[in-house]
Amino acid sequence: MRGGPALSIVSNSADAPDSHLRVVSEAPAAASGIRLSGVSKTYRTREGDVPSLRPLDFQINDGEFFVVVGPSGCGKSTLLKMISGLLPPSTGEIFVDGEKVTEPHGNAGIVFQHALLLPWRTVLGNVMLPIEMKKLPRAEYLPRAKKLLEMVGLGGFENKLPWQLSGGMQQRASICRALVHDPKIMMMDEPFGALDAMTRERMNVELRRIQRATGKTILLITHSIPEAVFLADRVLVMTERPGSIAAIYDVPLGADRTLDMMAGPVFAELVARIRKHFSTQSALD
Ligand SMILES: Nc1ncnc2c1ncn2[C@@H]1O[C@H](COP(=O)(O)OP(=O)(O)O)[C@@H](O)[C@H]1O
Ligand SMILES: [Mg+2]
Repeated sequence: MRGGPALSIVSNSADAPDSHLRVVSEAPAAASGIRLSGVSKTYRTREGDVPSLRPLDFQINDGEFFVVVGPSGCGKSTLLKMISGLLPPSTGEIFVDGEKVTEPHGNAGIVFQHALLLPWRTVLGNVMLPIEMKKLPRAEYLPRAKKLLEMVGLGGFENKLPWQLSGGMQQRASICRALVHDPKIMMMDEPFGALDAMTRERMNVELRRIQRATGKTILLITHSIPEAVFLADRVLVMTERPGSIAAIYDVPLGADRTLDMMAGPVFAELVARIRKHFSTQSALD
């Protein structure tokens, strides 16, 4: 398990004089992974302030599958947007590989709940979109795009249009699109919420396998507790809005996951334990 480094104390930080400079630190934990320090968010609206996240402190390790689970409206999407640099925090700081996040960065590929493929582009054309947008050399990335499609079982579908694919296949294509420029981190906001239960289970197995094959750091958000436990190396449980950290659990299921683990006692126990956090609140949806 990758439990150890997660809890290491990070020495360099917040007081870096120039956030654009890469901070060189003696503490290896600080220079890699994602680290949040006192990160909170209050939306300012015409109707008044909407406190969405209380100050959060935690770290995600390199190569870790990290899942955030919490009730609807607790600030999960807000958290992901801030880590990807799309939204500034109200307080606190976020570091990716020791560098402070101040704007959208190329370190992350993002997958949303809906595949959001361009309907007039082929599957391969959709997967190559980030390469075109980032003006990266097409010839260099084309074999990679094809390899990724192969890896997720879409080898024969490169020239199909999105409507010719099932929902699960479209979402697999969008995962390829998020990985094509070889980002260090893949961030996924309820990526399987729109899929039927059986497809969702298959996608969970597939995603866990992709993570093992690519070694990517994955931050995934869900409101399904079983999905969180099945996928994660660690699960962060959030409270209701304004969200805060209720607990962080190690998932002692080993690196390779199979669906029959969901029938086992370790899985059941952890799911029950996480569910307890919400038994006093309104249920997860
Ligand atoms: N742009 C915004 N302006 C005002 N309030 C917002 C905005 N975006 C989200 N919120 C509020 O912040 C809270 C957290 O939202 P969100 O991060 O989308 O939650 P989750 O993804 O956990 O469902 C919600 O109460 C939501 O209504
Ligand atoms: Mg959300």
